[in-house]
Amino acid sequence: MNDRLYIFDTTLRDGEQSPGASMTKEEKLRIARQLEKLGVDVIEAGFAAASPGDADAIKAIAEVIQNSTVCSLARANERDIRAAGEAIRPAKRGRIHTFIATSPIHMEKKLRMTPDQVVEAAVKAVKLAREYTDDVEFSAEDAVRSEMDFLVRVFDAVIEAGAKTINVPDTVGYSIPALWGERMKELIARVKNSDKVIWSTHCHNDLGMAVANSLAAVMNGARQVECTINGLGERAGNASLEEIVMAVRTRRDVFKCDTRIDATQIVPASKLVSTITGYPVQPNKAIVGANAFAHESGIHQDGVLKHRETYEIMRAEDVGWHANRLTLGKLSGRAAFKSKLAELGIVLETEEALNTAFARFKNLADKKREIFDEDLQALVSDEGYATEHERYKLVSMKVCSETGEVPHARVVFTDDGVEKRAEGDGSGPVDATFKALESVVASGADLLLYSVNNITSGTDAQGEVTVRLARDGRVVNGQGADTDIVVASAKAYLHALNKLHSKLERAHPQV
Ligand code: KIV
Ligand code: ZN
Repeated sequence: MNDRLYIFDTTLRDGEQSPGASMTKEEKLRIARQLEKLGVDVIEAGFAAASPGDADAIKAIAEVIQNSTVCSLARANERDIRAAGEAIRPAKRGRIHTFIATSPIHMEKKLRMTPDQVVEAAVKAVKLAREYTDDVEFSAEDAVRSEMDFLVRVFDAVIEAGAKTINVPDTVGYSIPALWGERMKELIARVKNSDKVIWSTHCHNDLGMAVANSLAAVMNGARQVECTINGLGERAGNASLEEIVMAVRTRRDVFKCDTRIDATQIVPASKLVSTITGYPVQPNKAIVGANAFAHESGIHQDGVLKHRETYEIMRAEDVGWHANRLTLGKLSGRAAFKSKLAELGIVLETEEALNTAFARFKNLADKKREIFDEDLQALVSDEGYATEHERYKLVSMKVCSETGEVPHARVVFTDDGVEKRAEGDGSGPVDATFKALESVVASGADLLLYSVNNITSGTDAQGEVTVRLARDGRVVNGQGADTDIVVASAKAYLHALNKLHSKLERAHPQV
């Protein structure tokens, strides 16, 4: 059996289907570059037919990514396939991933199609997709609740039509490992020409078994796993990439296969996705949680000091954890700054962007003695926000907060270049700042989430704030970083308002 396990990352598509995780083109590009660095085989960059913005983001990713296949999702209809085909056209290696539901409940109640019509649509979609690329993947949505005989019939037909990867999704997170493994084994045994395709699995985490189910499929012949960074995804999320990769690597004796993932890029990828989407990583999350390698009990600490392997099955540094590494200081020059960014895999497209980032770095170095890798990442992320169209921009602010007094904020910002002043009281300095901004902007948005994370340790560390706003059914995240968390909060609020302001209507692939 083939010992290569392909990693298909769908953070930018299924991951983006998490409420409030929608990303701008620039944000998607930053994540795609990190996924390439991580070494994923396929980047599912989006669902081209969802909106012109989605198609544009896939195209932009297809233009820059060299070492991973760039894929677009498409329902099994002509419009979707053509949109996907056009979006991946610039890719060095492009894939169309087309799907249709095959379970009785989905066919009857959602699609209102007969099984014969579903087979016909699937075959037609695969043939049309093959006109754009040789690399066509077919998924039977809700395969978990589909009848086995019907799945075999559909898969026989789409392989005959030219599909090269067959994906078996547990769309609703209903399976359990033993049954999911059995299902994969039976499909591979019964489908004609099953040895001519790559078998793939795509599991959701509704019962907390997405990773276990995916691994059961791997033990029964699947050689592609669809997963996301931090397990982000629709509802309870998808199988988490980092857990799949480290499980097969750590237990190669059991899985007898491995990926081409550079595991040292896992933690940076996790941090980037968490920052951009505003989805924090729980401290006890396997591999990427802050406590994943922390030993609290004295007995464990003693054991690890004597012999590391007593309590550690993986090494923190192998998955990209390292103590905050001192990077640059106040006296570092532009050349050192540029080469450090290159080392961190950060590409600033223009000389102007580099100059602005360098000026911000000097500013930060004035406030903070030591600048770490994480500070630089936040700094260019903050700069990245500014490359999107910004209606609102922070100019300056003053906040008074005193025991026994009502906190008061005064904020100066620009609205499409015109300077505005806002004042407000609140229960705390952040509340006062947001109230001040709302008194002028009057967005009418609801604040769904406010979170602050320290980027590095120490009281002079930068705080990174995420603000999630909702209006008329749209949910957006804004981020801001600063050594002053109230300033970071104002930046994050304005960033979210800028995103709300940019009209972005998109269709959901599974509705
Ligand atoms: O969960 C699912 O079934 C999907 C398909 C589109 C592959 O995301
Ligand atoms: Zn899915």
